[in-house]
Amino acid sequence: MAKKTLWIPRRLSDATLARARRDYDVIMKDEDTPGTAGEIVAMSAEADGMIPCHSEHFSADVAARLDPRLKIVANHSVGVDHCDLPALEARGIAVTNTPGVLSDATAELVVMLMLGAARHAVTGDRIVRSGEWDFWSPAFLVGKQVTGARLGIVGMGGVGRALARNARGLDMEIHYYNRRRLPPEQEQGAVYHESLESLLPVSDFLSLNCPASPDTSGMMNADRFALMPEGSILVNAARGSLVDEAALLQAVESGHLAGAGLDCFATEPGGNPAFAAHENIVMMPHVGSATVRTRDAMGFKALDNLDAFFRGDAPPDLL
Ligand code: DGY
Repeated sequence: MAKKTLWIPRRLSDATLARARRDYDVIMKDEDTPGTAGEIVAMSAEADGMIPCHSEHFSADVAARLDPRLKIVANHSVGVDHCDLPALEARGIAVTNTPGVLSDATAELVVMLMLGAARHAVTGDRIVRSGEWDFWSPAFLVGKQVTGARLGIVGMGGVGRALARNARGLDMEIHYYNRRRLPPEQEQGAVYHESLESLLPVSDFLSLNCPASPDTSGMMNADRFALMPEGSILVNAARGSLVDEAALLQAVESGHLAGAGLDCFATEPGGNPAFAAHENIVMMPHVGSATVRTRDAMGFKALDNLDAFFRGDAPPDLL
């Protein structure tokens, strides 16, 4: 049987590309830059399937212009807020994602951001690296202890549960808000809250791990930051749209929040230059899932979904 053709706009892992090239005719962009709307539409006439990342936007307008040749969008991401799902469904295009395989890597980065914001990692690194470290005192760079603190988790999907596992190793008291309460074997003693308003006041650290949607857009606003304890810390490794960045800045500048750890921003790439003045905001460039093992696992999951689809089976991660 003739090989199907895939369009892979971004530089996926070597193992992923090797497997894709073994089983498909692969077309790649010359440069590892986001696929534009024009490129997505043009390539839909050349490819039976695509493996986009969150950097390729399938808006309703793009979906309406796709060539009927394109049958499946097998995302290399768990988040699918870059896809207008109803619009793609209306075009009869299958959409899949990569749940589960990036939970541990992303949860690891949340722990790093949480610790980094709590223990002045940016300032400490800067003064040692620059040779400015000429002083020590017991009052120097005193941070907030993570061990034993209360951690609020918003969204107990794969990442939220992996984070809870990690946080138990730090003896954190885990609280969570989720659409549904978890069964006791998954909850493992974590305290369920039926609303954000109930979760926020007990969150010394708050980690956002829920999907971006119209319902969660701007979820962390000034009113909600005010509900967090004095000196608490926000971590967001989910999506920038969950946070009202002006309200976050205000909460940090007023000292109400002791800091923040951010892997996601309203504007990506780029981030928010206003945060740069605050070394108690630890920032990373949307790399929660960027480990060798996880990049391979994401790529292989996208290919598993494509293989199943083109065999005529239901892809395991069909949305
Ligand atoms: C995801 O999988 O959603 C990550 O944010 C990387 O795109």
